[in-house]
Amino acid sequence: MKVIVVGSGIAGLYTAVKAAAQHEVTLITKDVLGESNTHYAQGGIAAVTATDDSVAEHVADTIYAGAGLCWEPAVQALCEQGPHSLNELIRFGVEFDRAEQAAKGSEFALGLEAAHSHARILHVGGDATGAGISNALVQTLKRSKARVLEHTLVTDLVVDSNRVVGVSVFSSEGLETLEADIVVLASGGAGQLYRHTTNPAVTTGDGVALALRAGAVLADLEFYQFHPTALAVPGSFLISEAVRGEGAVLINNRGERFMQKLHPMAELAPRDVVARAIQREMLSQGGEPVMLDATGLGADFLSQRFPGISAACRSYGLNLAKQPIPVTPAAHYWMGGIATDVFGRSSIPGLFAVGEVACNGSHGANRLASNSLLESLVFADRASSVLDQPWPADFGFARFNDQPPMRELEVDLGYPSDAPVVDRVELQTQMWDNVGLARDDMGLRTARNAFRAWRPQKRSLRLFTDYEDANLLDLAKVVTAAALARTESRGAHFRLDHTETNPNFARPITVRKA
Ligand code: SIN
Repeated sequence: MKVIVVGSGIAGLYTAVKAAAQHEVTLITKDVLGESNTHYAQGGIAAVTATDDSVAEHVADTIYAGAGLCWEPAVQALCEQGPHSLNELIRFGVEFDRAEQAAKGSEFALGLEAAHSHARILHVGGDATGAGISNALVQTLKRSKARVLEHTLVTDLVVDSNRVVGVSVFSSEGLETLEADIVVLASGGAGQLYRHTTNPAVTTGDGVALALRAGAVLADLEFYQFHPTALAVPGSFLISEAVRGEGAVLINNRGERFMQKLHPMAELAPRDVVARAIQREMLSQGGEPVMLDATGLGADFLSQRFPGISAACRSYGLNLAKQPIPVTPAAHYWMGGIATDVFGRSSIPGLFAVGEVACNGSHGANRLASNSLLESLVFADRASSVLDQPWPADFGFARFNDQPPMRELEVDLGYPSDAPVVDRVELQTQMWDNVGLARDDMGLRTARNAFRAWRPQKRSLRLFTDYEDANLLDLAKVVTAAALARTESRGAHFRLDHTETNPNFARPITVRKA
């Protein structure tokens, strides 16, 4: 079978490696192999390896963080299959940090992150987990039979008789169409929707936009996770939650800790809770960032456990061991995406989605820290095991039987022909100001009107960035529509005009194009 995999983060690389053993695989990436969110991941990958830990507790932590919107079969698959998928990564050459003395039955050095009831985060090179995984998978892929097309952008999915049969691509060779029996979208998230993000420049949500325009069902788009602690400098360098997991604390400009009085887990409360608390604290101190104080951890420990973060701080003239560092929330991870079943199958036959581009219900309204690399791995594994199976008649959408959508939105992606071409920075500013950490009806409508008043660049004139901008514009419209429709607060979606969680709304909102 001809299989096209789009994207070269952990989900794309792993799918391609697995599929190449049986199928004719082409992996397409718009940058170079491995340039992805994965590459920059610091904290690690969550999985049960210690004897005092259990899959049931990992499931419970994931569901608690997910704020009532997780789909349990997906969470179960995630946590149960985690240890197996981890062993596969080790087989492909990933060298996780080992404990000096095996503790609680685990040979690995385990970190703790927010909302985990146990230390269960495996890491590589201290805080270089993503690079460690990405480099090993790139080398494994290069040894496989898969063909790789770098600097190649997928511009459209080719759909025939309601089945995906290939992709249109744009590269230095021009435009061409590649046929496929199966297309697996693994192109990652859309941090570039926001003015401040921890994500690299490639994260323009291309896969979600391709699927949207092809008619696929999307879900949970209103849930965008903001990481509480990006360094408050241009570029929003991520300061891993693992730093708080090791004992660093958040303080305001009076030098006071503020998380203890807000949540029993204090600095290790779920991400949405900490991010909003920081935002409130910043508002009350005139916009000044709060500080993360890791000085109690000691210089030797910090340089050995967090070499990358220590070096990044130094490059900004900050000494993590000697002074509190300024931090602020930044867009980090999209829980929403292309709706799939627990094998990554979308609503369009022939189209799979795995990793951040997908939404299978395992993260709910707020992803548990370090479950994203795990999700990519587990569902890439599951998808690659069923690529040649007949497409299920009901698309396997058991999730929507268990959790009937509270709204099924159809969003018009049209635009006035005389409208100005979308401006990325203005779009990101609208998203940050009005569709960000805290939203309300008025701001969301303002953003919606702004997005409706732009058009994408004409196709005949487009460069890579113009295609990306067109994708961001479509995505901004659907995220805003979903955020307007959810008139409650839940997980990462916080409405200033509907601050309570409504138990009747513990169901997804789905979106497709009108
Ligand atoms: C972090 O290192 O804090 C990020 C980990 C994650 O997003 O799960």
